[in-house]
This record gives sequence, structure tokens and C-alpha cells, in this order.
Amino acid sequence: MGKLILIASGKGGVGKSTLAASLGVALARMGKTVCVVDGDVGLRSQDALLGLENSVVYDLLDVARKGCALQQALITPYGAQTLKLLPAAQFARSKDVRPKALTHILSELKEKNDFVFLDAPAGIERGLRALLVNDIDETLLVCTPDDMCLRDTSRAASLLERKELPRPRLVVNRLMPDLVSAGEMMTAKAAADTVELELVGEIPEDTTVCRALVNHRLLMDIQCEASEAIRRIARRVAGESVPLPAYGSRRAGWFRRRLRKPLREVVRR
Ligand SMILES: Nc1ncnc2c1ncn2[C@@H]1O[C@H](COP(=O)(O)OP(=O)(O)O)[C@@H](O)[C@H]1O
Ligand SMILES: [Mg+2]
Repeated sequence: MGKLILIASGKGGVGKSTLAASLGVALARMGKTVCVVDGDVGLRSQDALLGLENSVVYDLLDVARKGCALQQALITPYGAQTLKLLPAAQFARSKDVRPKALTHILSELKEKNDFVFLDAPAGIERGLRALLVNDIDETLLVCTPDDMCLRDTSRAASLLERKELPRPRLVVNRLMPDLVSAGEMMTAKAAADTVELELVGEIPEDTTVCRALVNHRLLMDIQCEASEAIRRIARRVAGESVPLPAYGSRRAGWFRRRLRKPLREVVRR
């Protein structure tokens, strides 16, 4: 029996889908059997992130409504035999997928895979609530290191607690080491302490994430800081003990500090 891991956040656009797809690729390359389920009904993205835009035939809603067998809807990214994607319907709403059908699909996937990643929609509204099935073994909450996002992260953690799901762990994304070392951005550890969640990983801001998407490449195929960071998180998710890099926690040197430009206000005439 595998593990069902929900990837969620309090705020939208923080990097959930990028993380879910990339963890799927990383764990599959570690020899694990993995299924990524796109839970963002109506706004799917996993097909694009996994290079499968033109391969979607059936989706989660078709399976839930028994329009096709589960196996027919699963698609495999090129060259990744142990990784499968169950795409979301593009023209549907979260309430179209009945909780009982979703539970059934997820437990079947859990039986056949080491890891099932469920990529949640933005925020803590109906879309996320519809995914909170009892079968969830772990939740990774993704956030960016700012107060606004952390406030929403706390609300998401409270929602999971009310549903009696295990306490989530935190992934802090889009850290800028220069700003952290200058004291203008909090460290991943400080973010985790603020919301009182265990830190499972930290990912730096990296333009390669956007470039990979635009060039239809898998992020995990490209050697960069973000893919390295996600590989580390994958190893931690698989139970290995991997130290965290603590981006920016070393104070910037004298020369770099001198190079920093102060924030200058716009002069209004
Ligand atoms: N570490 C990162 N560095 C730079 N850009 C990132 C990073 N993580 C995510 N992004 C970008 O942020 C945007 C939102 O990411 P996405 O994974 O779709 O978030 P979500 O699923 O939470 O809405 C995308 O354009 C993605 O390329
Ligand atoms: Mg998303």
C-alpha cells in the first residue's frame, strides 16, 4: 500500500503544481512507482508540466462517472515508465466529482503505487475541501516566505486539522538568498516557526522554472538550483535524512552588502 500525499496551499500561485509534477518525476527516477493526480478540476496544469498536453484522452471526471476504466485515463510521460498522470477535466467544476468516487479512485491508485500526489487547486475554498478524503496520509503545504502567504497557510492548516487529517509539513518556495541574507526576507526555518509546522523543504526562486515551462521541458531534466532542491525534498519524502540548505542564512559579505541598492521612493511632482 502506497502513500497518498496532498500538495496544497493557503494562497494560489505559490508553486504547488510545479512541486507535485517535479516530485513525481524525481521519485519515479528513484525507482518508485508514482501517480500524479491533477485535482485542480477546471484549471488543469499537470498535463502541461509533464509534457502531456497532447496525450489527454480521458480524465478524472470520466473515471469518476464510470465513462472509462481508471487504466484508460492514466498517461505516462515520455521515458518515465513508473510515472503516471491522471489528468483533471478541463471543463468541469470540483463538485462534479463525487467524494465517494474520488475516494475509490485514490485508494485504487494507492494500492498500485508507492506514492500518489494529489495536486490541489488554489486556496482553501470548495475545490480543496472536495479533495479532503480520509485516505490522505500526508499533506505538504507550499508557501512563499511572506506574511500574507503565511497567514493563509495557517488557515489551510486549521482546515486540515478540523477535518482530522495529519498535521501538514511545510515547503517554502521562491526563497531569494540575497534578500534573506540581507534580512529583507525570512528564512524557511523562520517561516515554518511562524506557522508552527515542520519544515520539509525549501526551494529558491529560479528563472529556470519558468524557462522550462515555456520551452516545454521537464524541470527535473534541467540541472538548476530549483531541481536540486526538489530532488532533496523527494528524498526526504521517501524517508531519507537529507540536510536542508538554509538558503541565505549566511550573512552576505561586506562587498555584496555595499552593492545592494536601497529602496528608493518615487518622487511625485
Ligand atoms: N521556485 C520558483 N522559481 C521561480 N518561479 C517559480 C518557482 N516555483 C513556481 N514558480 C512559478 O510560479 C508560477 C505558479 O506556479 P504553480 O506551480 O502553477 O503554482 P500553483 O499550482 O500553486 O498555482 C508558475 O509560473 C511557476 O513557473
Ligand atoms: Mg496549480
